[in-house]
Amino acid sequence: MKKIGVLVTGGAGYIGSHVVVELIEEGFGVVILDNFENAESDVPQRLERIVGDEIRVVRGDVRNGTLVAETLKKSGIDIVVHLAGKKAVGESFSKPLDYYDANVGGAISLLEAMQSSNKPALVFSSSATVYAPSDRMLLSESADLGPINPYGRSKLMIEEIVSDAVISGDLTSAITLRYFNPVGAHPSAMIGEQPSNASNNLFPFIAQTAAGWRERVRVFGDDYPTPDGTGVRDYIHVVDLARGHVAAIRHLMGRSPQGKHSKVNLGTGTGYSVKEAIDAFSQACGFEVPHDIVGRRPGDVSTCVADPRLAAETLGWRAEMSLERMCCDHWAFQRTLRDRRPDDRV
Ligand code: UD1
Repeated sequence: MKKIGVLVTGGAGYIGSHVVVELIEEGFGVVILDNFENAESDVPQRLERIVGDEIRVVRGDVRNGTLVAETLKKSGIDIVVHLAGKKAVGESFSKPLDYYDANVGGAISLLEAMQSSNKPALVFSSSATVYAPSDRMLLSESADLGPINPYGRSKLMIEEIVSDAVISGDLTSAITLRYFNPVGAHPSAMIGEQPSNASNNLFPFIAQTAAGWRERVRVFGDDYPTPDGTGVRDYIHVVDLARGHVAAIRHLMGRSPQGKHSKVNLGTGTGYSVKEAIDAFSQACGFEVPHDIVGRRPGDVSTCVADPRLAAETLGWRAEMSLERMCCDHWAFQRTLRDRRPDDRV
């Protein structure tokens, strides 16, 4: 029997590579499309070692409409999981046109290619950044939208474009997944995040400090209205997040009628502070990760935690892995980086 064909754009990246593993383990036929701009060239080989099978990889950009249309037709793709794009918030301020070109331009080009083939359904990778900064305890999907950086605005624009394409019938069916803070790595420690210099997320900083690549973690502010004064976020294990994509695809396949665009949070519903994250990581690596309190980072909110109920109700999916597990897996992967790339210090 023919496997259900899934094209994963950005499938060699941090989240994409974990999505690919979960899809293959669930019996889907996967094709990766990646331009390898923010992915290591040997990720496909590492993925093949994890799943014990060959994986088809198309090297190219999602903005290359001819290549994408050809791939969709030749490989008999039923579903596209679209993760390719740029994701560094700070860089999106200095290079907004690059971000709109890669993210919005990339999505339009992809949707056109999908329209000209057999109209596969879409799972779109969005972000909690689309929500307006808020003091709400839990952010549900109906919370006010209002991204405050070009990266977030590019994600919201794409969500709206996808909605319009579904209404017009150009796209059959779509789910947007709004990620909270993905961290951790595959338990095999063979894939994980190898962040670019443009990334300024907390977990890579903690891991690199623990590895001795950096001297200390700077904790951005301890005067927030949170229990210990440091910022609170909804960290989610990247394998849980990847499984959320499998659940979204199953939901799309069983959905009737088609012609809908749902937007669903992927988070745990539990927030941890920066101090709690550093403590948990210190436990995982067996020594205290050095850190200092510095001033707030402009643009940060005090708390950002998902209301995860819609994902449970509609997709039958819940995050399962603990903060401890996130830290242990993240650290195990970071240690392989130290072994593999001793000179590549940030
Ligand atoms: C950031 C992005 C968000 C993106 C998300 C992806 C900003 C303003 N927001 O969210 O758009 O979707 O990453 O994962 O960049 N922190 C420190 N020291 C550090 C780094 C971070 O104390 O060196 C703190 C932050 O103040 C925050 C928490 O750690 O309280 C998490 O920060 P980060 O990992 O950058 O994620 P977000 O700010 O939630």
